[in-house]
Amino acid sequence: MSFKNDQVSEGETERILELAREALRLDGDFVEMGCYKGDTSLLLAEVLRNSGISSKRLWIYDSFEGLPEKSASDESVLGVDFRGGELYVTKREVKERFLRAGLPVPVIKKGWFSDLTGEDMPERIAFAFLDGDFYESIRDSLKLVAPRMVDGGVLVVHDYTNPALPGVKKAVDEWKKGGGGLGCDGGGAIGGDSNRGGNRGDNRGRVLTFLL
Ligand SMILES: C[S@@+](CC[C@H](N)C(=O)[O-])C[C@H]1O[C@@H](n2cnc3c(N)ncnc32)[C@H](O)[C@@H]1O
Repeated sequence: MSFKNDQVSEGETERILELAREALRLDGDFVEMGCYKGDTSLLLAEVLRNSGISSKRLWIYDSFEGLPEKSASDESVLGVDFRGGELYVTKREVKERFLRAGLPVPVIKKGWFSDLTGEDMPERIAFAFLDGDFYESIRDSLKLVAPRMVDGGVLVVHDYTNPALPGVKKAVDEWKKGGGGLGCDGGGAIGGDSNRGGNRGDNRGRVLTFLL
């Protein structure tokens, strides 16, 4: 499937897919919190299908009402275009894209992340992509996802370095400071291009977190 996405760059997408492929060897499912139109979800579904591992499922989540309202933590002069109600798409549209692409339809959950519970999540997560743009969205995603990550699981958070979306960094930094209070053993190892190698030999009992 060719690259097409107005929310995640091609380079970032390559990285996300590379990390997802690495997570195939782990026990657990794949998750995307904030799927929007499903551009990345379709590529993740393709990774799973091409792996031939039928036991792994993709779970994707969205309000399907667009972005929530910003909190004070999200205010940035660079981020004025990110407003409540933007990025609206229906669940049906996303489902139909999978059908048209001939890919297995993932578990698609509609709802605000703050309203989801553990029952909405897979028991074990090998790979998670968090892309909710705002402080509360990332904070709530981490609460749901982190306790379910398997040892060595791969957690990718988008927009950590995006000055237009300062709430993402704030939510992740608070989570790191919590040091496992959200159920992530070891508080999460922070990886990335610069220090990824350093984490790879030491991932037992930990989650590898990549901040894009
Ligand atoms: C940047 S888009 C996601 C792009 C998608 N990951 C991709 O790769 O194409 C952010 C999405 O997160 C959803 N979202 C943000 N905060 C949310 C929340 N608190 N609860 C539910 N959905 C949320 C929005 O509706 C929007 O569709």
